[in-house]
Formats: sequence, C-alpha cells, structure tokens
Amino acid sequence: MDVRIQKAQAHHVAPLVDLFLLVERQHEAYWPLRWQLRPDISNRYNGWVAGNLGKSDWLFAVALDETRVVGGVAAGIIQEIPIYTCDRYAFIHDVAVATDSRRLGVATKLVLFVRQWALDAGINQLRLFAAEPNAPARELFSRLGFRTTYHEMVLPTA
Ligand SMILES: CC(C)(COP(=O)(O)OP(=O)(O)OC[C@H]1O[C@@H](n2cnc3c(N)ncnc32)[C@H](O)[C@@H]1OP(=O)(O)O)[C@@H](O)C(=O)NCCC(=O)NCCS
Repeated sequence: MDVRIQKAQAHHVAPLVDLFLLVERQHEAYWPLRWQLRPDISNRYNGWVAGNLGKSDWLFAVALDETRVVGGVAAGIIQEIPIYTCDRYAFIHDVAVATDSRRLGVATKLVLFVRQWALDAGINQLRLFAAEPNAPARELFSRLGFRTTYHEMVLPTA
C-alpha cells in the first residue's frame, strides 16, 4: 500500500486520536485495574495531542493513504534521572494502524520515522512498553530490533 508518513497537522488530530483509542480500549479490556479509562477519554486525549503538537520534544506522526489517516504514532523525549550516562531517551506512547490497513508495513514505517526523529535530535535510544498479552505488538517491536529490558509487575492492594 502506498502510504506516506508525516508530522501530524491540526486537522489530523481527531482521526489520530480515534486510532489511539483502539489501543487504549484494547488495554482496558486486558485488565481494568491497570488501564481503566476516564469517561471523557476522547476529549482528554484530543486536548493532550493538540496541546503538544508542534513542540520540539513531541512527535505526532500520521500514515496517510490517498484519502485518510490509516495509522499514527505519538512519541516524546523523556529526561532520565541523573544517574545514567543516557540522560534523555525517546519514548513511544502509542502506535496504531487501522484494522483494514494492517500487515502492510504501516506500523514499521511509523516506528522507523520516530527512530529517525530521535536520531536527528541526538537521542541514542527509543523505548516503549508493549503489554504482555499484546503478542502482535511484541512481535512487531522484536522484528524491528527492540530488546526486552523490564517486565512491569502490578499487585492489586485490595
Ligand atoms: C500492532 C500493530 C500496530 C501492527 O501494525 P501493522 O501495520 O499491521 O504492522 P506491520 O505491517 O508493520 O508488521 C510488521 C511485522 O510485525 C509483526 N506483526 C504485526 N502484526 C502482527 C500480528 N497481528 N500477528 C503477528 N505478528 C504481527 C509481523 O512480524 C509483521 O511482519 P509480516 O507482516 O511481514 O509478518 C497493529 O496491529 C495495531 O494497530 N494493533 C492495535 C494497536 C496496538 O496494539 N498497538 C501497539 C500498542 S503499543
């Protein structure tokens, strides 16, 4: 499929957030204790993306075919605590592809776009969290060369 990746513009925010909500709802279904969403998630997410669009420490990118947004990614640059030689890293918060556009390399292109953005910003590593039950995502990121470093563990206190 012929898709191009570019930085998101204001008119991309709503379709981009609709795609990110796919990921968020998928996570919520895994375990509400860990991922339950607020009822006004859509407004909150739209506000968060629109408020950070164009800031140099944030990247919101879209995959476009001739007619619509078929994928998107949100990434930011995070400051490490001052004990590691790595003081800043790029972090992918969300990546999602429309259901009818999957397995065509769209997510791969989006992640490589973020990687290049990080490299251009002088950042030497890209991190993300992939949910344990999300086998497709873990396979995608492994294929791209990501190495597992942590297993987040959550204990309900009640
Ligand atoms: C995970 C997701 C982003 C993959 O997007 P995509 O555009 O289909 O991924 P790509 O086409 O670039 O896939 C590249 C490789 O990743 C792996 N992969 C992707 N989807 C897979 C799946 N459903 N099952 C197994 N492997 C998969 C394959 O190795 C694939 O290569 P191949 O198609 O040659 O076998 C997409 O399924 C999605 O949006 N899922 C819902 C949201 C989500 O889970 N996002 C990640 C959360 S951080």
